[in-house]
Amino acid sequence: MYTLEDKDRSLTVKDLRADVVGINTHVPLFNGTERQYVFLDNAASTPTFGRVLKWVEEFLPWYSGVHRGTGFKSLLATEVFDRAHEIVGRFVGADLSTNTVVFTKNTTEAVNKLSNRFNFGPDDVVIATVMEHHSNDLPWRKNVKTLHVGIAGEGHLDLHALRQALSQYKGRTKLVAVNGASNITGICSPIHEIAGWAHDAGALLFVDAAQLAPHRSINMLDDGDPRHIDFLAFSAHKIYAPFGTGALVGPKGFFERGDPDLVGGGVVDVVTLEEAFWNHPPHKEEAGSPNVVGAIALAAAISILQSVGMENVASHEHALLEYTLRRLKRIPGVILYGPVDDVSHKVGVIPFNIDGLHHALVAAIMSTEGGIGVRNGCFCAHPYVKQLLRITPEQDKHYAARMLSGDKSDIPGMVRASLGCYNNEEDVDSFLEMVERIARKDFRGTYVQNSTSGAFHAEGFHIPFSRYFPLFENLGMTAPRSYSESS
Ligand SMILES: Cc1ncc(COP(=O)(O)O)c(C=O)c1O
Repeated sequence: MYTLEDKDRSLTVKDLRADVVGINTHVPLFNGTERQYVFLDNAASTPTFGRVLKWVEEFLPWYSGVHRGTGFKSLLATEVFDRAHEIVGRFVGADLSTNTVVFTKNTTEAVNKLSNRFNFGPDDVVIATVMEHHSNDLPWRKNVKTLHVGIAGEGHLDLHALRQALSQYKGRTKLVAVNGASNITGICSPIHEIAGWAHDAGALLFVDAAQLAPHRSINMLDDGDPRHIDFLAFSAHKIYAPFGTGALVGPKGFFERGDPDLVGGGVVDVVTLEEAFWNHPPHKEEAGSPNVVGAIALAAAISILQSVGMENVASHEHALLEYTLRRLKRIPGVILYGPVDDVSHKVGVIPFNIDGLHHALVAAIMSTEGGIGVRNGCFCAHPYVKQLLRITPEQDKHYAARMLSGDKSDIPGMVRASLGCYNNEEDVDSFLEMVERIARKDFRGTYVQNSTSGAFHAEGFHIPFSRYFPLFENLGMTAPRSYSESS
C-alpha cells in the first residue's frame, strides 16, 4: 500500500488526461445542446486525478486522528501523514535535515503564517513586487513596511530596480517575497538569481510557488548554496489534489524560534497552568487536528506527476502554450498581454481581451455558448493587471470609487485561459474557435450585465443546477436555482 503500482511508475502525460476526474463531463449550452466541458482555468484550481482519489479511498478505511492515538489505525495514519511531509519536501528539493514542511490550508495561509512568524521590527522591510498575487502581498503589508518592485518590458519583473532596492535597504531588508510564476502572465522570474542577490544583501527569499509547482520542477537547493530558496509555499488544489491542503517549506531553525502562529493542541510538548513548552516543527506550526486526507491526496498527486516527470509536464505544456499563442495572435481584435513570442520563461497562463468587448462578456459567452471554463477580472493581482492594462492613477481612482459605490459594470480586467498538464490541442482548438466567433461578434445570446457583480448572463438561459448536481435538493438546501441566477 502507498506505493505506486508498476503500471503507475511510468505514466505519460496522455495517461494523465484519461485519469482526470470529470474529463468527460457534459455541460449545457445556450442553443439547448450539451458539450464536453473544456476547462481552461487551471491557474485557479485544477481537477483531481483518479489515482489521487484511489489513494484517498485506500487510506480512508485506515483513517484516524494522528500523533496522539495509540491504536493501530492512528499509528498507521501518523506514519502516512509524516511521510507525506517528506514527499512534499523532496518534491521541491528541500534538504530535510535542516528544513521542515508545514501543512497549511493553502498558499494564502502559508504566507500569513510566515509573515506572522517573522516578528518584524519597526525599521524592517520586505521587498515584494507589483506582480504578486494579493496573497503574497497583503500578509506582508499587514506586518511590515512592504516595498513593491515594478515591472519592465512585457510585464517582467524589473530586476535592475530589485537590485537597487536591495542595495538601498541593505541591512533593513529581512525578506524578498516573489512568485515563481505569475498568475496573470505566467512569467517565471529568475528565483535562484534573486536568491543570490537577496542573500548578498543579508535578506532571505520566499517564493510563492502556487503557479510554479504544478508546471515545473523546483529545487530549493542545499542551504549552503548562495542561490538556495529559504521559504516556499504552494497549494494542493492547484496541483490536482483539491482536498484543502497547502504547504510551507522552510528552515527548521526559523520555526524553532519564537511562538507559533496559532496555539492550541498539537503545538505543545508540555503545558502547566503557568507555561507552555512548544513542540518541534512541523508540529509546532500545525495547530489542531490536521487535514490528513488532504496531505495524502497531495502526496499522491506529487507521486503521480513525478512518475510522469516534471520535465515532460513542462515540455507538453510549453508546446501547447506555443500552439495556443501562435494561433491566438492571428485572430483580429485579440489583445494579448505579457510575453507572446519568447515564452521559454512562462507557464501556460494566457491573459487577453477582445477589442470592444467587456472581459466579463467574453468569459460569459465562452461558457454559455462554448462550454469553456475561463476566468475574467483582475485575478487577485489588481496592481499588476492595471499596470498591464496601462490604467492611469486617475482612472484607477475613478474605477475604485465606482466599485466601492457598488457598481462594478466598468471594472477593468482581462480574460485568462490557463493550461494544465492534461489539456490537449483539441481543448485549445475549441477555445480558439470560440475566441474567433466572439471576435467577429458571432454569438447568439442577448447578454445583460449585473452591475453589482459585473457578470453577464444570456437572457432566457436558465438551466436548473439540480439537473446536473442534485445534492443540494436532496439535502433540502437552498442553492441558486439555475445557471443564470448564480452569475
Ligand atoms: C501566484 C499565486 N499565489 C497565491 C495564490 C493563493 O493561493 P490559494 O488561494 O490557494 O491560497 C494564488 C491563487 O490563485 C496564486 O495564483
